[in-house]
Amino acid sequence: MKMKFVSVLELLVVLLCCTDVVLSDWRCGNEYGNCQFTSGTCSGSYVSGLCYGSTNRRCCVPAFNDGRCTSRRGTCQSTRLACGGGSYVSGLCGGPSDRRCCVSRTGTSASCNDVTIVSRAQWGARRPRSTSRMRTPVSLVFIHHTDGRACSDLASCKRVMQGVQNYHMDDPKRNYSDIGYSFLVGGDGKIYEGRGWDRQGAHTRNYNSRAVAISFMGDFMSQSPTSSALRAAQNLIACGVRQGKVSGNYKLYGHRQARGAGTTCPGNRLYSIIKRWNRYTAGTAP
Ligand SMILES: *[C@@H]1O[C@H](CO)[C@@H](O)[C@H](O)[C@H]1NC(C)=O
Ligand SMILES: [Zn+2]
Repeated sequence: MKMKFVSVLELLVVLLCCTDVVLSDWRCGNEYGNCQFTSGTCSGSYVSGLCYGSTNRRCCVPAFNDGRCTSRRGTCQSTRLACGGGSYVSGLCGGPSDRRCCVSRTGTSASCNDVTIVSRAQWGARRPRSTSRMRTPVSLVFIHHTDGRACSDLASCKRVMQGVQNYHMDDPKRNYSDIGYSFLVGGDGKIYEGRGWDRQGAHTRNYNSRAVAISFMGDFMSQSPTSSALRAAQNLIACGVRQGKVSGNYKLYGHRQARGAGTTCPGNRLYSIIKRWNRYTAGTAP
């Protein structure tokens, strides 16, 4: 009798514990990943916030070939998940067949048909060492410049993108898991995908979990970005608002307005331009 009682209790404990584990790890399952300790090898990339337990336990998500979905500005996900305000299109995502491309129903017109986004695959990005999910919509948008080389066409902008990514990942003082910015802007008037809307970046210390960063490729201390680059950045922000990635009452700042930033970024000339943009907010960012 006593033995039986103990084992019922144990069964209860196991049930409680594992319901919890299953519920939490289920989010990783939706990404077709496995929860594992980050000391293990992951042939894709680690995503945090999807697994139960220790913060060292993360979701290893396989690397799928999603380029065709991304270039339609969709998101590859399990059809078990709701495709809010949109519909699933098959044949655009890698991985299992129930992994499909969720494309906004309001279509590219309500989202981004006035912006050309060059996907990571298109510019030849390296795989991130790990990623963190971003909570959206964000309420802050920071403008940066790379303070490096400018570019004027797809070929030169790809080279600059690869250079910035290598610098952010390989410079021991930075050692970021990926290129730091959310998006970059080329002199060719195209937007280059960095971490995108849904992954937390490394760009504006103290603000990274609450902000997206749009960085102009080049040094804009005394020169202006091209008019097509300026238009592209503004269209991108408007598109982010329409897609629910950026809050409708967001505030726009230059990197120099971050608390304790100690930087002239995004350069005097570019900073004077963004002061005239929608929702630019004077003073130190909250
Ligand atoms: C870079 O960061 C990783 C952890 O993300 C760490 O293991 C490694 O030692 C760091 N490298 C340098 C040069 O600091
Ligand atoms: Zn900056």
